[in-house]
Order: sequence, then C-alpha cells, then structure tokens
Amino acid sequence: MPLTEAHVQAALAPRAVRFYDVADSTNDIARAWLHAGAPDGAAVVADEQRRGRGRMGRVWQTPPGAALAVSIVLYPSPAALPRLSMLAALAVCDVIESLGGEAVGIKWPNDVQIGGRKVSGVLVEAEWERERLLGAVVGIGLNVSVNFSDTELADSAVSLADVLEKPPDRLELLAALLARVDYWYARLESAALYASWRARLVTLGQRVTAVGQAEPIVGTAVDVDASGALLVRDDAGTLQRIVAGDIALG
Ligand code: BTN
Repeated sequence: MPLTEAHVQAALAPRAVRFYDVADSTNDIARAWLHAGAPDGAAVVADEQRRGRGRMGRVWQTPPGAALAVSIVLYPSPAALPRLSMLAALAVCDVIESLGGEAVGIKWPNDVQIGGRKVSGVLVEAEWERERLLGAVVGIGLNVSVNFSDTELADSAVSLADVLEKPPDRLELLAALLARVDYWYARLESAALYASWRARLVTLGQRVTAVGQAEPIVGTAVDVDASGALLVRDDAGTLQRIVAGDIALG
C-alpha cells in the first residue's frame, strides 16, 4: 500500500511531519526545514526518492511503495553529534528484531545488515553556522520489499520481505522506527547507547580495508572508541584510528 499524507501524519502524531509522495532527497528537505526552524524530532518522509543520497557521494535507491526514506531533525550537543549515527543504526536493529529478524548486525559505522547483506543505510548531516552547531539531520533508508534480484546489488543488499515471515506494513514500521529513534535520542549521551551499538558491530575482530583516507588501511578491526572511531591494527602493527569513511570486510 502506498504511504499517504493522512496516514503518515496520523501514525506519527503529534510529531511535526512533512510527507511527500515523491521527493528528490528527504535529507535535503529536512536540512532546509532545520534552517527554517524545524522543531526537535521533526520528520520528513517520502514514499519515493528520485535523488536519494548515500554516504560518500553514493546514490541511494528508494523506489515507490517498497522502502522507508525518512529524515529526522535533531538538536544534539556538539559532543554528542557522533552518536547520532549509532542511534539510527541501533533504532533500525531494534525494530527489525522486534519483527523477528535474525542475524541483524551493524557494519561499521552504521550499515545495518541481515546475514551480511545491507538492509539499511544512515546518512547524518550536521548543519553549522561558522563554529556553531545549528542541528543535524539523521536520514534513514530501509529496504522493505525492494527487489534486488537481477541487479548489481543482488549479493550485497536485502529487503525485510526477503527474510521475515510476513512482509511488514510500512506505516507500522515507520512508527516503530521513530519510536526507537526517540528512545535512543533520550539516551543519546548514555553509556548504554555506545555499549549497545558496539555490541552489535559485526566488524570487530575482522580483517578490514578502510577507504576514505589518503591511503587505504589494511588490518584487523580491534575496537571502536567512545566517539565511534574504528581502531584498526594495521599489518605493520600500528593502531590506526579511523574517524570516517568506509570499510570492506575480508
Ligand atoms: C548509505 O548507506 O550510504 C546511507 C544511505 C542513506 C539513505 C537515506 S534515505 C532517507 C535519507 N534521504 C537521503 O537522501 N538519504 C537518506
């Protein structure tokens, strides 16, 4: 069933919500709304995205009727900013497990995987006025019934409908996801948020290649620190701290 304005507004009330049948990118709309004074927790939802954006300049597909694309405006302290990406990945994991999903884990920093295939991605964008943090947008894409067979993502991506006994209702899924976002946002600076995110990381202990810096770093992912950085023991024995970027496993 397509998401509709009336159903989304009712399911998420009393949250401030902007709904679009088709949008370019919900993150872009949410960023503009943030600058125009969006309240804390305001959400932008689209049934379809035409120019969905992923991390590191990638494209994110949101075909109509088959996925969730939601961006939430939040106002963390600057110190808590790195925790937004933990919050979003955790909220997604919680919801999938509440539906009976198994083998759910997080590939550093915030890709949610089921059985090693990506089901959800998170794009956090902070908005600054010179040195001052104005707020941030947490964008979450979740594959619900996207058909990846016969695409280049067939081996690396998955939809909830592929792994759950019953394909979830997107409206209920959206409401449950935002409830978990609220839950973790209320605990943003807690030890529990960091510990829960760390415990779900499938990356720790694995051989990784980290890209996104001047030179790729190859080694073993040994831990994460409280700011979310990945600690990789490279093949020369040096502990490297990876703050941003992406990793390939193996
Ligand atoms: C990634 O894994 O590369 C991050 C993907 C983030 C996609 C979501 S969908 C909702 C929001 N709007 C966007 O344009 N991107 C994010």
